[in-house]
Amino acid sequence: MLLINAPRSGDMVSLLLISLPLLPVVFVATTLCHSRLLAICHRVCTRLLKLFHGKVCVKNTHAYVFSNCTHGQAASVLETFNLYARTHASVSIGPEKGEFLDEIVRREAPLRVLELGMHCGYTSVRILRLLPPSGKLLTVELDPITAEKGEEIILVSGFKTPQFQVQTCSSAEAIASLPSQLGESCLDLVMMDHDPEQYLPDLLALQRGKLLSARCVLLLNRTQEPGAQALLKYVSARPQQYNIEQQFLDMVEIHCCVTIHPQGEKS
Ligand SMILES: *[C@@H]1O[C@H](CO)[C@@H](O)[C@H](O)[C@H]1NC(C)=O
Repeated sequence: MLLINAPRSGDMVSLLLISLPLLPVVFVATTLCHSRLLAICHRVCTRLLKLFHGKVCVKNTHAYVFSNCTHGQAASVLETFNLYARTHASVSIGPEKGEFLDEIVRREAPLRVLELGMHCGYTSVRILRLLPPSGKLLTVELDPITAEKGEEIILVSGFKTPQFQVQTCSSAEAIASLPSQLGESCLDLVMMDHDPEQYLPDLLALQRGKLLSARCVLLLNRTQEPGAQALLKYVSARPQQYNIEQQFLDMVEIHCCVTIHPQGEKS
């Protein structure tokens, strides 16, 4: 084939002849740069994907859910999210992991919940609809547009502001302001679905601030991320303090066995 075509593509042949001696150089260079290039590519793609995700979530998910759900009905809002995710790229955790989360919220009946990373409000609505009457959700979102749209979704689901609060800031800032918001109470459930690189620093900050209750459950999403792996490694090395309960897909449930309080309020 090449021989038959050769006379008609003289340019191609000379190009091949010139580049032939360069091949070993190219090969060595490629091998050396390969892993580094891959790492850079991965980082760029992840960043782009995050940007893209944010936009997708805000613009399309919100518009779709807002205009297609029955207002005032949390079940309809969740169903519309699921419908949307069936045909579109979505950042919501979805119905399967959603049920895993439901099970934990039902079992724990947490009074104070902290959600880090609210995306479009899907998880917030799932948690809110199962909270005990005096239960409260504080949800933290760094991106102002996502926070605004997410809050709208929560309101459309029929929840009102004393039950929940949306804070538009970094997780670190939110955790720093927690003591004044929680008063005497501590967190019973912490859902981490924000920047995985912040998972471990945030857990340490919550621990330092003594903000976790004696029965606190920590839920991590996207456990395959290096940041999540760092937290899991930390937790695994401290079996006295933490217990990795169960994993479902890329979500893991961790129980925090906080040291007994002076009054021994929990046994
Ligand atoms: C609502 O749902 C319909 C039917 O699935 C869809 O065509 C429409 O685009 C949705 N509305 C918005 C604003 O996305």
